[in-house]
Amino acid sequence: MNISQNHTTNSMKNFSNLSAEQVEKIALQLNHLLAEYHLHYQKMRNFHWNVYGEQFFQLHAQFEAQYNRAKIQIDEIAERILTLQRRPVSNFSDYLYMATIAEEKETLRPRDMVEATLRDFDILIDRMNQVIKTADQANDSGTADMVTAFLKDMQKSHWMFRAYMREPILAS
Ligand SMILES: [Fe+2]
Repeated sequence: MNISQNHTTNSMKNFSNLSAEQVEKIALQLNHLLAEYHLHYQKMRNFHWNVYGEQFFQLHAQFEAQYNRAKIQIDEIAERILTLQRRPVSNFSDYLYMATIAEEKETLRPRDMVEATLRDFDILIDRMNQVIKTADQANDSGTADMVTAFLKDMQKSHWMFRAYMREPILAS
C-alpha cells in the first residue's frame, strides 16, 4: 500500500487543520524518534542479557523495564505516524542510518551500561522536545500530548538512573 496516495483526500483535510508541509515535518521528526527508540530498545535488551556482577538482579530487571516501555511507546509513535497518513520507517537498516544513538559492540561494565543508558535518554529527550516544538507550532496537540507524556516518563527515568550513579555521601 502506498500511504502517500492519501495525502490529498478529503478525509485527511477533515482530520485536522494541518497543512501537508506541517504533517511532513512532524512525521519526519517522529520517524527520527522512532529510529532512536529502536536502537535504544535493542541496547536495553543487550544490557538485560549481558549485565553481570553484584547489581545483576537489580539492573537485569531495570533494563527489562526500559525495553518493555520502549516497545509500547515505539508502537504508539509508529501508529501516530500512520494516523497522520504517513509511513513509519520500518527497517533496521533505515534506523541505523537515521539514528544518533550508537550500538554497543562490547560488553560494558555495569556502571558504564547505566551511563550509556543516560546518554540514550539525553538523545531521546532531545528528539522528543523537537517533536513537541514542531507539533505545538502546528497546533497538533494529539502528537504533542502523546510525546509530552513520553518525555515526562523518560525524564523520571533519567533522574532515577542519575541517582543510581551518584556516590553515597558518607556520614562524617
Ligand atoms: Fe529476560
